[in-house]
Amino acid sequence: MSGDNELLARLRNEQFAVVDDFLSLEFANKLLRSSQELIKSNAFKQHRFSFGGSLLEKPGVFEIDLSGPTCSKMPSGLGAWNDVVNDFAPSFVKRLAVDNALALKSGTPAIKVQLNTGGGSFPWHYDNPGPPSERSLTCIVYLNPNWTPGDGGELVLWPFLSKQIVVPPLHARAVLFRSDTVLHRVLPSKVRRLCFTMWCPGNAVNRQSDVLLSKDVLQFRSYDEAQAFFCQSPLQRVLSRAVYSEDYLESLLECVENESGHEKISLQLKRSLVQQHENNVNQIMVKLRPLIQEFRERKTRREIS
Ligand SMILES: [Fe+2]
Repeated sequence: MSGDNELLARLRNEQFAVVDDFLSLEFANKLLRSSQELIKSNAFKQHRFSFGGSLLEKPGVFEIDLSGPTCSKMPSGLGAWNDVVNDFAPSFVKRLAVDNALALKSGTPAIKVQLNTGGGSFPWHYDNPGPPSERSLTCIVYLNPNWTPGDGGELVLWPFLSKQIVVPPLHARAVLFRSDTVLHRVLPSKVRRLCFTMWCPGNAVNRQSDVLLSKDVLQFRSYDEAQAFFCQSPLQRVLSRAVYSEDYLESLLECVENESGHEKISLQLKRSLVQQHENNVNQIMVKLRPLIQEFRERKTRREIS
């Protein structure tokens, strides 16, 4: 229990926590073996994501939705993944449900097992981008006993206007973070990489004060005060794409263009992605230019300090 209290304190103070040996080695290896059976039976499906009205394939990323209706029909069965759905995940949520800020809903969270083959990556994003998402806490657990530096597939967390934290996807390690305040991405993986993610819904996310950036909110006496506020508030999501404009675009193009080149997106689609991104950034800039410019400078200063 004291371990849970310490974990919750870290989530409150830093909004993320890395926990090694989150699973016992025995359970992690069991999940790995069940995953290998599922890979053999072609149970993993191509990951798709929507952007600007298009549904795009993400090269090199495959997944199984453990809360999906097809799961009970897996030809080889889910093996040890049944233990995650029926026991491990709901008891994990129960243990952390004491925290009032996360206000987790009881029951089994949404769970996906994910397989990255060579080249798969994810762009900068928040797991809870706004309503109607109810995600409060994200927990990613890695199953990669042979991972070594240079293999890629690291998770990168980027707390608002702070330094990036690069987390290698080590076997049985978990990374937990607030779904609505921690910008993150996944670097391209050069080898097969396996993980599962639990997205835990909460009762206190996306309240009006978390999504409406009104004039009343913007009454700061200094930019330092503004920075301190947005670092803690889910309202940072309103500004993030403009503050990190170049990083968002670079990572977006990287994840739809497979390194091997055989899945390259068309020039037309690439233009439309860039255009959509620029439209989004311009909409923010029109309303908040001085604040965004100041935060961009602070971001650059933080990177070189
Ligand atoms: Fe994510």
